[in-house]
Amino acid sequence: MAAFSRWCAINPPRRQLLRLAAAATTGLLPVGARAESDDPKRMMRPQVGDLLIRAEGDNPGAVIAASDLKPGEAPIIAWAIDPKTKLHRDGSRLNQVLLLRLDPSALGTVTQTHAADGLVAYSAICTHAQCTVTGWLKDRQVLHCPCHESLYDPRHDAKVVGGPAPRPLAALPLKIADGKPEVAKSFIGKVGMTQPTM
Ligand code: FES
Repeated sequence: MAAFSRWCAINPPRRQLLRLAAAATTGLLPVGARAESDDPKRMMRPQVGDLLIRAEGDNPGAVIAASDLKPGEAPIIAWAIDPKTKLHRDGSRLNQVLLLRLDPSALGTVTQTHAADGLVAYSAICTHAQCTVTGWLKDRQVLHCPCHESLYDPRHDAKVVGGPAPRPLAALPLKIADGKPEVAKSFIGKVGMTQPTM
């Protein structure tokens, strides 16, 4: 296991690298993710009032209900959707969101202000080098980036608890409406890595 972790640190997963290369060039999802690519609203970060849909798995595009999430289970990777126009905000991989349910009594004071009934949402983009944070260490209840082993604590505002990430994941405040998590405010904090100033 240790050898595998070292290998991952040196060799980020090929799929992540390909996505990063595409994102670095265009800021868009890899070609073929969705064809209807020109609406600039697809590039917008999640907006107030948006719902969340599954980004992958057996039923991609399905609107996520609060009851879909069980306490302490792995996050769902999601996109935002405008519920009126049905537009998916999947025009940039930087819009990906991690949605999970935690024990409300375990949430830190700040996290409670952007959580809804134990549901919390964060940017899925690592603040180190912008890989997608796909891992979940259930026993520790921390998010894991597979590229260089950064760890984030979602109970405490996704603060960094391991690895090279320089700062927490951006938080996406939620509320529950009609049994569904809904975006209550825009991202708190910067999504992804900090770009050098010119
Ligand atoms: S991209 Fe390096 S730890 Fe996530």
